[in-house]
Amino acid sequence: MKPLRIVTCALGAGWEGDLVAAASRGHVPADVLARCLELGEVHAALRGTASSAGPADAVLVDAASPWIDALTVADLRRSGTAVVVVGAADVDARALHFGADGVLAAPEHPAELIRLVLEVVTPQRPAENGSGGVRGRTITVWSAKGAPGRSTLAVSLAWELARLGVPTRLVDLDTYAPSIAILLGLSDSPGVGQLVQRIASGDTEVSRFLQWPRRGLGVAVGTIRSDAWLEVPDHGVELLLRTLVAEADVTVVDVDDCTEDDEELRLAPSPWRRNQATLAALGASDLVLVPVLCDPVSVHSTVRALTSLRREGTLADNGPPRILSLLSRVTSAREAGDVEAYLAEAGIDCAMRIPDDPRSVTRARWAARVVGEVAPRSAYARAVARLAGAIRSELATAVPGNVSTEACAENRARVPS
Ligand SMILES: Nc1ncnc2c1ncn2[C@@H]1O[C@H](COP(=O)(O)OP(=O)(O)OP(=O)(O)O)[C@@H](O)[C@H]1O
Ligand SMILES: [Mg+2]
Repeated sequence: MKPLRIVTCALGAGWEGDLVAAASRGHVPADVLARCLELGEVHAALRGTASSAGPADAVLVDAASPWIDALTVADLRRSGTAVVVVGAADVDARALHFGADGVLAAPEHPAELIRLVLEVVTPQRPAENGSGGVRGRTITVWSAKGAPGRSTLAVSLAWELARLGVPTRLVDLDTYAPSIAILLGLSDSPGVGQLVQRIASGDTEVSRFLQWPRRGLGVAVGTIRSDAWLEVPDHGVELLLRTLVAEADVTVVDVDDCTEDDEELRLAPSPWRRNQATLAALGASDLVLVPVLCDPVSVHSTVRALTSLRREGTLADNGPPRILSLLSRVTSAREAGDVEAYLAEAGIDCAMRIPDDPRSVTRARWAARVVGEVAPRSAYARAVARLAGAIRSELATAVPGNVSTEACAENRARVPS
């Protein structure tokens, strides 16, 4: 059997010394590539082994390591190496929630330890608890510049899904102008930054940090302080979404439009982790809904932005995520038809038309409620209900993001020409 390639970080724990001794004598099928004392050394060792002979099979981290939390585990796993926490007392629930590939009590013999680590790394098993388990779908509402109604749609869609009995979460990851707290009349705290920190520290009771404007709809409001985004690394966004997705059927995410690489903005006076939240949400999505105004500028910037997201690899050429555009604020069937034809030529599917309905949308906004509540029979509310119905039907299929455009498109006839 090929020996397991292992990196340890164990502050002199007994199990680690025994393992190193057994491996050096060839008593267990393992090579200990590096013994580290702290996190920086683990990263350096993983980089070193990855560049010479590919990623190590596993990092074994002692449960007493002071730096271990879900963010550091997620960061370590990015190198393609399994993370196993060893020495957890009675397989500590907190350690499990860190999203490690394995959590082991300290075994008495190195051979037993290697047998358990082998079980974890071959084949890679998804974690079975909260932060690692997959349950629902992630739907991000993103668009090119121009405020075409992303937040209004995200809020209305989430509310409607919950009304249809679909357990739903709504997350405001708009790092420039978060609006969900205002649109739903919620408190602006705790925001997503606090939520990420709680999850990172192994808190399993995420629901306590959400707000519940209606049954079945848990909302994580945005973080308003721009410097707070520095505390939310991109894998923090992934972690947050994984945790929410594990407990709900659908997680709807509202993001800012800007997808420029933050690194390029380092010289700008504003903090630079902001756009990464949008990119991380897009990368973690099954479905991206793209509202497009029936306007030449909006259409062109949508096609340009989607093309560059594909070129940069944020969005794959052939999903996932599936990309569905929605014509927003439609007033003319003729213009809508032209826009759909243009988008189709650019390879962008158009799911449906959302009518311009300023009366109902504005009324809902001033009442800090969703359109479906204040004007349930309005054209806007009915369009979103249709979209939510199509998404609910998709949940029954095995293919994430496989929303039927036919189911949505029935709406076309109802939009004024
Ligand atoms: N279907 C609609 N009919 C009429 N007005 C709408 C519709 N959708 C959105 N609006 C209006 O458009 C404006 C922008 O909406 P919203 O805040 O949802 O956009 P956004 O894309 O999230 O913008 P931002 O870039 O500021 O985040 C609001 O004034 C809202 O009332
Ligand atoms: Mg918005």
